[in-house]
Formats: sequence, structure tokens, C-alpha cells
Amino acid sequence: MALFCEVKPSRRSLMGVPRDEGQFLSMLLKIMNAKKTMEIGVFTGYSLLTTALALPEDGKVIAIDPDKDAYEVGLPFIKKAGVEHKIQFIQSQALPVLEKLLNEKEEGTFDFIFIDADKENYLKYHEIVLKLVKVGGVVGYDNTLWFGTVALSEDDPMPPGLKALRGVVREINTFLANDPRIEMSQLSIGDGLTLCRRLY
Ligand SMILES: C[S@@+](CC[C@H](N)C(=O)[O-])C[C@H]1O[C@@H](n2cnc3c(N)ncnc32)[C@H](O)[C@@H]1O
Repeated sequence: MALFCEVKPSRRSLMGVPRDEGQFLSMLLKIMNAKKTMEIGVFTGYSLLTTALALPEDGKVIAIDPDKDAYEVGLPFIKKAGVEHKIQFIQSQALPVLEKLLNEKEEGTFDFIFIDADKENYLKYHEIVLKLVKVGGVVGYDNTLWFGTVALSEDDPMPPGLKALRGVVREINTFLANDPRIEMSQLSIGDGLTLCRRLY
């Protein structure tokens, strides 16, 4: 469920999307016949592996994360699955890579983009990935239910770690719900997955 990143090391397995969400993403990519995709926020690569397995042999996923050590924990499994050739891992913060892709005229070339990283930057990512994804393509934002706290009121008790970003996630949800450039659907799978289809 791609949990926020300040979790204790012993709970870090929660950072990966749960299996039902992984299965859903896999089927979605196949239904879409996705061939060129991107993932922002890789961690140990569970959703990345799911994506790479769902792509055709000549498919490609650009995977961006500054944490290469975490990626290397999952890399043996990616290799064992025989899908490493579909993955271009870029060790970096996402924003400069996205800007570079725009400058390299990659506009409108991605079928699917999955965003599962720093929530504070989701709306900045949104402006760029909406240019990079093709018309009719899909952008997926993870953690948009933020463990249900988005539906609580400000005064309700909640863990401080969740409270810190609850407002940010609510802001993202409000923005996406009102963005005329997309058709959106918020799924209550995992920690909430919002799918945005680019309309124009
Ligand atoms: C929740 S984990 C990703 C989990 C993964 N998608 C999965 O389901 O297996 C979030 C990741 O986002 C990465 N991240 C944080 N800030 C980032 C940034 N500015 N650009 C790219 N990745 C970032 C963190 O290093 C962390 O590995």
C-alpha cells in the first residue's frame, strides 16, 4: 500500500502495494495493452515487478527512485522473473527526470504512469505527467485514502505520522476531482488508488 516513508524499518514491507492492488494493476496494464510506462517511487520493486511482468516482451518501464539500495534488494527477484530488460531504473528524484523527458520530446508517449512517492510533490508531478501520458492514457496515484484519514475531521484522533500529510492528500484529491483535463476514479483498493484518464 505504498505507505509513507517514515515507517519503522520493521514495518517497511508495508511500503509495497498489497497483492490485490498489484494484481489489479497487472490486469489493468494488460487490458490497456500498455507498452510504455513509468513508475515514480520504486522501493524494493514489488509494483515494478508486477508492471514488468504485465508488459509485452518489448515493453518498457522507466522506474525512478533516489533509493538504489532498496531497488537492489528486489533486483534478484526481477532477474529471476526474466523481466530486467524491460526496466530502466533511474536513481534520482523524480522531478528532474520528468523535466528531462519533456525536453527530450517524450510528450504524449506513455500509456501508463504510476505515482507512489512523496505526496508533497504529487500535484507538481501531475502537471508534468499529464503532458507525458498520451491522450487516453492513465495516471495512477497511490495512497489517496491515506488510511481513511482523508474522511476524518481535523479534530478526530489519528497517528501523528498520518496527520502530517492528511491535508496534502485531501488537497490532491480535491484537485484531481476538479481537473477538467482528466476523467478520474478513486478505488478503495489498498490505501486508495486514484486513476486519471487523460482526456485531451
Ligand atoms: C511507498 S514506496 C514505493 C513502493 C512501490 N511502488 C511498491 O509498491 O512496491 C515510496 C518510494 O518513493 C521514493 N521517493 C520518495 N521521494 C521521491 C522522489 N522525490 N522521487 C522519486 N522517488 C521518491 C522513496 O525512496 C520510496 O522508495
